[in-house]
Amino acid sequence: MRLFGMLLTCALTLGAQIDSVDPEYLVPKANPYNSAADVKRGAQMFLGQCSRCHGTKGEGGLGAVLAQPRLRRAPDDESLFHVIRDGVKGTEMPPAFTLTSKEVWQLAAYVRSLGRVEAVSLPGDPRRGADLYGTKGKCGQCHIVSGQGESVGPELTEIGARRNAAYLRQALVEPEAAVPDGFLQVRVVTKDGRSITGVRLGEDTFTIQLADLTGHNYSFVKQDLKDLQKDFGKSPMPSYQTVLSAGELDDIIAYLASLRGNL
Ligand code: HEC
Ligand code: HEC
Repeated sequence: MRLFGMLLTCALTLGAQIDSVDPEYLVPKANPYNSAADVKRGAQMFLGQCSRCHGTKGEGGLGAVLAQPRLRRAPDDESLFHVIRDGVKGTEMPPAFTLTSKEVWQLAAYVRSLGRVEAVSLPGDPRRGADLYGTKGKCGQCHIVSGQGESVGPELTEIGARRNAAYLRQALVEPEAAVPDGFLQVRVVTKDGRSITGVRLGEDTFTIQLADLTGHNYSFVKQDLKDLQKDFGKSPMPSYQTVLSAGELDDIIAYLASLRGNL
């Protein structure tokens, strides 16, 4: 009991000492550096120190997608501060010990700005877009919106809150320009000569699982395959540049932008 008391006193004095060394040691709950100038400074640091993993617009890559309204490890400002300063143990996300608390907050302000896609008014008609989504686009063959459809591609229920209109246009016209993390196209040829192209669902040393473009799932023992190709940066999503007219593209983009889930 006495020992516990001593330890406690030690810890308290140590805490007090750290406080006296760095008045910013106590992390406030809300970001104190949130002005436009702070966001700008954060953007500069982000480009230099974070973009190689998170992408210049937080679109993700080796690092997590930051351009989304909810971050798994950082639901509030305080936890966002800790993630940026301390990193995430056991992952590539490094700590940023050389930054001051102010700089960490400025980065946090910028990271939050990435996830805020404002609702803007767009030229297309979202109702016609919803129609095209189901008919000419056949998007539901590969995407889920509010529980409907197949999960070959990413779920789109909240896509309008996560991606801006320019990104959505590019995703439709030039799908390969921005393939989100986790969607690797693979092509296999089985020993009996069947070729299947799909999205990798899982893989270990000996087996690989994929979903083909109709949403059918497969698991193969690699040894049993005649060929296995991984197409990094390729997308199984077709380009809609020539399938849809300019007006129809606008309509679908307006529809996608309106999909904001509960966000
Ligand atoms: C070497 C690559 C790398 C660098 C550099 C890097 N990160 Fe990360 N970051 C990651 C990875 C990987 C994750 C995902 C960790 C996990 O599994 O949760 C991550 C996660 C995060 C998260 C949590 C995301 C979430 O969804 O909760 C934030 C916020 C973040 N990083 C911000 C930054 C900032 C700001 C910088 C620059 C100071 C930075 N990162 C630099 C790789 C990196
Ligand atoms: C054959 C399957 C397939 C079809 C059909 C398809 N997609 Fe995709 N889509 C994917 C895959 C796989 C990805 C992820 C790889 C990529 O970004 O190209 C994707 C990515 C996307 C993205 C980017 C998502 C993100 O989080 O970055 C959007 C938006 C999108 N699709 C919308 C649509 C719309 C709208 C249609 C119909 C007009 C459509 N897709 C048709 C498979 C498909």
